[in-house]
Amino acid sequence: MSGHEFEYDFAGTGTMDLDDRSTNIDQATIAEMNELIARYPDKRSALGPILHLVQSVDGRVSAPGVEIAAALLDIPPAQVQGFATFYTMYHKKPAGKHHIGVCTTALCAVLGGDALLDCVEKKLGIHADETTPDGEFSLERIECNAACDFAPVVMANWEFMDNMTPEKAEQLIDDLRAGKPVQATRGATLTGWRDSERVLAGFSDGRADEGPSAGEPSLRGVQLAAEKGWTADSVTGAAPAPPDAPAAPPAEPKTEPKAATAKAEPKAEPKPKAKADAKAPAAKAAKGDKK
Ligand code: FES
Repeated sequence: MSGHEFEYDFAGTGTMDLDDRSTNIDQATIAEMNELIARYPDKRSALGPILHLVQSVDGRVSAPGVEIAAALLDIPPAQVQGFATFYTMYHKKPAGKHHIGVCTTALCAVLGGDALLDCVEKKLGIHADETTPDGEFSLERIECNAACDFAPVVMANWEFMDNMTPEKAEQLIDDLRAGKPVQATRGATLTGWRDSERVLAGFSDGRADEGPSAGEPSLRGVQLAAEKGWTADSVTGAAPAPPDAPAAPPAEPKTEPKAATAKAEPKAEPKPKAKADAKAPAAKAAKGDKK
């Protein structure tokens, strides 16, 4: 062995327990799966949402869930398993009532993400990719959640908990364990991971506008632009070209040889005629551009 073995940080993305046949999927769930399928021109596109729905009822991507999804989508179960084991948001082992993710990607890491993960592991008595014995919490080391302006970030049931500290993380866990209402920093009040999975499947809980959706660091650029009167071109279509725009850009490449000629001019200096000749093509080209 080389001594530099790859450390696999995503044990939870491994294979699923196919011997565990327990499931809460019933006819109502299957009707909802068909509802999801009907939303796409190619029914295979509904696989992701269906697996989120499976997680919302089974707490994991269950073996029966895989088989039912495969049958409804007319694809092999192995293809469903391959999909589920590729994406880290699909759990092969039962997740907790509350799923905690601690970001340890670069920016969060340097601002305390690793210390946060240590703290949460000690507080819960589990490591990343494990679930507490009482089923209340599961923990995951997550990659960047595009919330770097609020680093270090913790996700609770996929809602943002920004600018975290070990003390705030411990309080979060205490409050969730006690069943106290916890408001996400930018999002809804936390309920449970399965509820979030149902929303991710595509079934609204009517709370999309609950809580703040943006924070001061993200809005700072907009505020600055408003103060300075900065505007951007419309993004709804191509901006109209200024009337003289076509003439200017084509001239650029043709001026480059001129610059090269200028560099060569010292060698040609003893022959003024050559210097004049060298300018001729550029002048011709310039005339040609105007045509
Ligand atoms: S590095 Fe943690 S949210 Fe981007």
